[in-house]
Amino acid sequence: MKFHITTFGCQMNVHDSEWLTRALESRGWEEADENEAQIYVVNTCSVRDKPEQKVYSELGRIAAHLKRDENIFAAVGGCVAQQIGQGFFKRFPFVKLVFGSDGITNAPNALERIAEGAEDRVALLDFVSIYEERENPEERTVSIPETRQAFVNIMQGCDNFCSYCIVPYTRGRQKSRHPQAVVDECRALVESGIREITLLGQNVNSFGMDKGGVGVSFADLLKKVSGIDGLDRLRFTTSHPKDIEPEVIAAFGELENLCPSLHLPLQSGSDNVLKAMRRKYTQARYLSIVDGLKKARPDIVLTTDLIVGFPGETEDDFQQTLDMVERVGFESSFSFKYSDRPGVASLNMEPKVDPVVASERLMRLQTLQNNITRNCLKNLEGLETEVFIEGLSRKQDGDNTSWKGRDPAGRIVNTEMDESEGMVGLMVPVRITEAKKHSLNGERTGKPW
Ligand code: 5AD
Ligand code: SF4
Repeated sequence: MKFHITTFGCQMNVHDSEWLTRALESRGWEEADENEAQIYVVNTCSVRDKPEQKVYSELGRIAAHLKRDENIFAAVGGCVAQQIGQGFFKRFPFVKLVFGSDGITNAPNALERIAEGAEDRVALLDFVSIYEERENPEERTVSIPETRQAFVNIMQGCDNFCSYCIVPYTRGRQKSRHPQAVVDECRALVESGIREITLLGQNVNSFGMDKGGVGVSFADLLKKVSGIDGLDRLRFTTSHPKDIEPEVIAAFGELENLCPSLHLPLQSGSDNVLKAMRRKYTQARYLSIVDGLKKARPDIVLTTDLIVGFPGETEDDFQQTLDMVERVGFESSFSFKYSDRPGVASLNMEPKVDPVVASERLMRLQTLQNNITRNCLKNLEGLETEVFIEGLSRKQDGDNTSWKGRDPAGRIVNTEMDESEGMVGLMVPVRITEAKKHSLNGERTGKPW
């Protein structure tokens, strides 16, 4: 069977799709180009309105392939599947499977049964209350990516119910994975050649604070993983400011392979809006975390998520968001216009902000951010760093081959090198020569390793 997976949304979805690919390949199925597949899987995101709309247009595109082969069918997974469920069967008759974030464990079996004709339609939408292991570490190490980077899941779901957010409804309650399973998987990956690991969860800082907890905190887990011999880079995402422990802040100064970057969603700079968002921290608390982080690791790079136009947001509230962006000096940020999501608490909050005003605020915020980003990157010119090569750069306009990689803070660095192959998965010492709008150019200063 030939399958094709399209993934929308967060890194959790990317990671889920990677697992599904491995699981289907281990059954002898083959990943195929969009034009050759017999089975399509769409892993969906409903966190905001836009990504949700993309899912429907993707299904429209898949429908066009039915002309080539009427036996083609599709599966819809992830957050929109959890939300709409069997509604997909009516709207898109070629959809034969829907699965939610917990249901994915059984998706390979279900796909096989549908492909064999043993089943017509399957819905896997139940939530489970403990984290289900999906594969043992050895299975995962059968094919190590050339980039030598891996995501490792440490938990599922979220218990926070921020008033605008659909995630607790689509991904269910927080379920931590057993720390030993996490460490075993990380160790197996590193022993098989992985050099960089990103620990994943909706709210990694509350790791262990649920039924699955065994008294190992996120800070403890970080230390254990960081201590694995041969791991060059360790990252984690996503964090919630209300849960970040002093030990995690201190870890940035203590653990050498913990990368100096943190994505710490602020959402709004105004205490009134933060309260209505049910974020459970204030501007002052956020700033004290930032101070702590900068003390522990002066070169730490902070990035964030921001929402503008939350119901009730005034010009003064918005101004406080701008002030915070400036004060913290986020090197980059993702900013979104608030959108109503089905079933969330903010749906009933008033007054809604005029969409024209929200768009204008978003533009002002993004202009400010672009200026800050430019200054941050400019300040790096002339500095030495180490770049972990991920692939070829998009632009190839020099005499030599340009390679794309990331510095320890995760910034993209393009470096021209004599080699036209064999650089992926290597660390290269580089001097930054030029700051571009969202990336850096560098020149190699030493031997790769
Ligand atoms: N409207 C706009 N942005 C949202 N986000 C989550 N829910 C909404 C919503 N209803 C943003 C938050 C979150 C990011 C993943 O998406 O900033 O951190
Ligand atoms: Fe959504 Fe808040 Fe949970 Fe993040 S912490 S997933 S914003 S509910």
